Amino acid sequence: MARVYNFSAGPATLPLEVLEKAQKDLVDHQGAGMSVMEMSHRSPEYKEIIDGARENLRKLMEIPDTYDVLFLHGGASSQFAMVPLNLFSEKRKADYVNTGAWSKKAIAEAKRYGNINVVASSEDKTFSYIPELTRDMFDPEADYVHITTNNTIYGTKFPELPDVGDVPLVADMSSNILSEVYDVTKFGVIYAGAQKNIGPAGVAVVIVRKDLMGHALDITPNMFNYKTHSDADSMFNTPPTFAIYMAGLVFEWLLERGGVAEMQKINEEKAGWLYDFLDNSSLFRGTAEPGSRSIMNVPFVTPSPEMDAKFIVEAAERGLKTLKGHRTVGGMRASIYNAMPPEGVKALVEFMQEFELKNK
Ligand SMILES: Cc1ncc(COP(=O)(O)O)c(C=O)c1O
Repeated sequence: MARVYNFSAGPATLPLEVLEKAQKDLVDHQGAGMSVMEMSHRSPEYKEIIDGARENLRKLMEIPDTYDVLFLHGGASSQFAMVPLNLFSEKRKADYVNTGAWSKKAIAEAKRYGNINVVASSEDKTFSYIPELTRDMFDPEADYVHITTNNTIYGTKFPELPDVGDVPLVADMSSNILSEVYDVTKFGVIYAGAQKNIGPAGVAVVIVRKDLMGHALDITPNMFNYKTHSDADSMFNTPPTFAIYMAGLVFEWLLERGGVAEMQKINEEKAGWLYDFLDNSSLFRGTAEPGSRSIMNVPFVTPSPEMDAKFIVEAAERGLKTLKGHRTVGGMRASIYNAMPPEGVKALVEFMQEFELKNK
């Protein structure tokens, strides 16, 4: 078996142990005589799978009973609409921080339903930093404040959460959920597409404070109403059963490894190796500002697009795959989610050292 180190930003590498477990159980799930893909979502076997996944996520993130955990279709992008539809009061106003392409999409979607105030933006410097945020920048009357905790394309992360007073904080955590410890009680809603740190594409996780549900705008489609899914334990319609099953296996894998705090240590160490190398390199340069650096997505460049292209080709020949930066920014990006083993990052740094010596 030839597994490569896959640095894709998403869908992204999954833990080998998880893939192997799914493979072992694929055609006959633990004696059921059928695959999870073929199982009724209403069967007792499947109920155990979805309940177990939910409970394990609760454990991993210490999610209190005052929050619901929903497994939904439609990716993180549907949340760009679901958040305003569910959280707007008759005031219909919200504050957004614009820290990248995904924030911009969230803003554009929310604008369809209400008044969006962009309190700060880092677009002036190609989203290479997280703007400084102070409490007085936020409207205490807003229905919510929206941030993107980790910006997948530009490799930035909020170094700390903004102080938004009593206004519910909503976070798109698609690319750094479960990578470091967050206090869930600081948020009104957390949402994430699965295909980076949770499992395969097809499911989004939404963690929502219970008191924020039940007041959706009249125009909200049933399928876009958090309450619909909360009342039905994410079984209002057929959920993405196999993706939830895989997410459940990833949650078990994380618990076996000591949970999120332990992952955070490993992730900081992995990212640290890359950043240390970049900071001392005479060929490569990291593009995110040091105070805003992500520990999940590390974008970097050489002095020229031609050299970047050469690097990407040669790295792939070494089994270091999917290092091309996002099509809108170019260069390289190493996505080093929880499932990227430390050996993968070590192999990348070693290859970069070698490449630098040859190409200085
Ligand atoms: C931060 C962030 N938000 C939202 C999305 C969109 O997710 P989805 O494709 O699940 O809609 C992505 C996808 O890469 C992302 O990185």
